[in-house]
Amino acid sequence: MAVHQKQIEEFGSNDDFWLFGYGSLIWKPPPHFDQRVPGYIEGYVRRFWQDHRGTPEAPGRVVTLIDRAHWDTLSDHHEPTERVWGAAYHIPAAKVPEVREYLDIREINGYSIQFTPFHPASDSKPIRCLVYIGLPENPQFLGPQDPNALARKILQSRGPSGENREYLFNLEEALLGLSEESGDKHISDLVARCKKLEAERKSASGSK
Ligand code: BEZ
Repeated sequence: MAVHQKQIEEFGSNDDFWLFGYGSLIWKPPPHFDQRVPGYIEGYVRRFWQDHRGTPEAPGRVVTLIDRAHWDTLSDHHEPTERVWGAAYHIPAAKVPEVREYLDIREINGYSIQFTPFHPASDSKPIRCLVYIGLPENPQFLGPQDPNALARKILQSRGPSGENREYLFNLEEALLGLSEESGDKHISDLVARCKKLEAERKSASGSK
């Protein structure tokens, strides 16, 4: 679903700018938000791709969202969740230009944008939300991912934004804190793999 340029330009002018955070935005909110609402969107799956938690020569891995229809065409399926939990942030109209600049509304680090209904955990009515997603043609998009190789990559990557391990562990904690149903099995599985690898490394270095 391509987003029409006019839709993008007008979004926010009626005090209706809501942004969906599903990765680090859950625990690192955008500037100037005046409401934060935990909830979920449907029709997407979290998937890791290449980003700045590493160095340009050795990029780390962060989550993006991909369309469920795109996901169904991939061969390396982890168990998808029906709902992608996160937090929606409302940006007051007066601050929209500044926040748009901060997010680079058209394309932030190669993400593409869509609008989708966001369902607040409180069961109130859905909110139209802006969401950044990954398309197969985005340069960060990676081919099939073996979960153990992904866990190893996360453990070895660090860069200007910090340790990739910290990103993953923060993401799991932030997700679990949103609601009783908001965990993501793929994220918790990777955290468990990272902890196991670290324990194996520790015991291997202790036994030398
Ligand atoms: C995030 O939630 O981490 C995120 C949201 C939009 C673009 C990139 C990342």
